[in-house]
Amino acid sequence: MIGLGCDHGGYELMQEVKKHLDKKEIPYRDFGCYSMGSVDYPDYARQVGRAVQEGSCEKGILICGTGIGISITANKMPGIRAALCSDCFSAKAARLHNDANVLAMGGRVVGAGLALKIVDTFLDTPFSEEERHKRRIYRIEHPEI
Ligand code: RB5
Repeated sequence: MIGLGCDHGGYELMQEVKKHLDKKEIPYRDFGCYSMGSVDYPDYARQVGRAVQEGSCEKGILICGTGIGISITANKMPGIRAALCSDCFSAKAARLHNDANVLAMGGRVVGAGLALKIVDTFLDTPFSEEERHKRRIYRIEHPEI
């Protein structure tokens, strides 16, 4: 299950992402927002972040105008590793190296064609499971070591 969250700046691109996931029969839960009306992105980042923290969603996709505010918010939540991506190379590395569990994008930054390729790359790339990456990820939340 993929958790989806956006604000008004990401709403239109999120509709494209949903159509794409529907076509691929990838299940998702849409946490909103549900229109172009102005909202505050932290509300949606937190709902998706919580679902990923609890395990009801294995990954999340967050979209705001730039992807910045929504990823900053998600990255303040323990266990959430949100990667703001505007290219497929970063989306792939975010999975291989960082085991990112949330993809963030900017609806005013990337076009739908590229965004959907980024989504596919993110969802299809497994974590490398390499020890050095495991150690670094562990150290993100354990500053004492
Ligand atoms: C909303 O206008 C915009 O500030 C928001 O979508 C996002 O880009 C913030 O980081």
